[in-house]
Amino acid sequence: MAADRRREDDVLGKIDLSTGPKEAPLGAYPRVRMRRNRQQDWSRRLVAENILTPADLIWPVFLCEGTGQTEPVASMPGVVRYPVDRIAEAVAEAKALGIPAVALFPYTDPVRRTAEAEEACNPENLVCRAIRAVKAAHPDLGVICDVALDPYTSHGHDGLLRDDRILNDETVEVLVRQALVQAEAGCDVIAPSDMMDGRVGAVRTALDGAGYQDVQILAYAAKYASAFYGPFRDAVGSAKTLQGDKRTYQMDPANGDEALREVALDIAEGADMVMVKPGLPYLDVLCRVKEAFHLPTFAYQVSGEYSMLHAAAGNGWLALDQVMLESLIAFKRAGADGILSYFAVAAAKRLAAG
Ligand code: PBG
Repeated sequence: MAADRRREDDVLGKIDLSTGPKEAPLGAYPRVRMRRNRQQDWSRRLVAENILTPADLIWPVFLCEGTGQTEPVASMPGVVRYPVDRIAEAVAEAKALGIPAVALFPYTDPVRRTAEAEEACNPENLVCRAIRAVKAAHPDLGVICDVALDPYTSHGHDGLLRDDRILNDETVEVLVRQALVQAEAGCDVIAPSDMMDGRVGAVRTALDGAGYQDVQILAYAAKYASAFYGPFRDAVGSAKTLQGDKRTYQMDPANGDEALREVALDIAEGADMVMVKPGLPYLDVLCRVKEAFHLPTFAYQVSGEYSMLHAAAGNGWLALDQVMLESLIAFKRAGADGILSYFAVAAAKRLAAG
């Protein structure tokens, strides 16, 4: 006993535990080495703060008229539009991979696009037929649909246009009817993407009044007037028709505080979930929204973000799988509960492969 104690004293006596050796101060290099935890794969996985799973992903899907044939979207490599008779089969793969929900976007036949967007409220329109096809085949797959008029207007705007102005309140009336026909068709989540004032409250009131109190609202709450939507407008056919720009209703990319006001209003009006859009260039907004409201918060990695990564990869400048997963985990780190991404299926496959 005594001999043991003496040996311990000998050893401890040589080390000053209060400060450590001068060249190795406590709480700093070289005693602290941040790289220690990064040396092994098991350790990196153990200390990872965020994780991406297929349950974080929503797959946006484009629709077209006709039967049998898919149509490629030229500005979005690997993305096609599906006719209604192929949509159930297309989303089956996403569901099997563990993706919880899809978002449906129609390419409306140009002859059905009008100044007043009547087709938006037609219960037999493309998106309503697709909702019914998806829900019939996959009742447990979430279906999300935009509420906005741009796939249906001859001028490509999300609202009604008169004398060069987008009318707010008149547009909201049409959006409400659009939301109701989509809910009637079986849509689970109504996603107003139009940025009119007051539309979330109006849609909530109408849904509740029609017995759709369980239909959720995912508000495109902070949606910016972005040039990153270019390829999407090709995909839904509004690129050629759009007159002017959307800056009188979508947000100025210069603004962050304003996004918090938009989100606060949509929450007060009854939004169950909110979205920030576009994605990577607006991670600061995403982070602020999540921290301020602690609500289910989604990010949309939009068409232009998808296409630019693909274009660079196509030139051999970026490794596609790596930038895909890196961009998606960045959304999680910034606070997203989920991400709408055209990479959803490819990413879920990569995650399944390990
Ligand atoms: C329609 C809508 C747009 C997007 C989603 N819904 C385009 C726009 O507002 O012009 C863009 C999605 C994308 O770029 O992937 N209101």
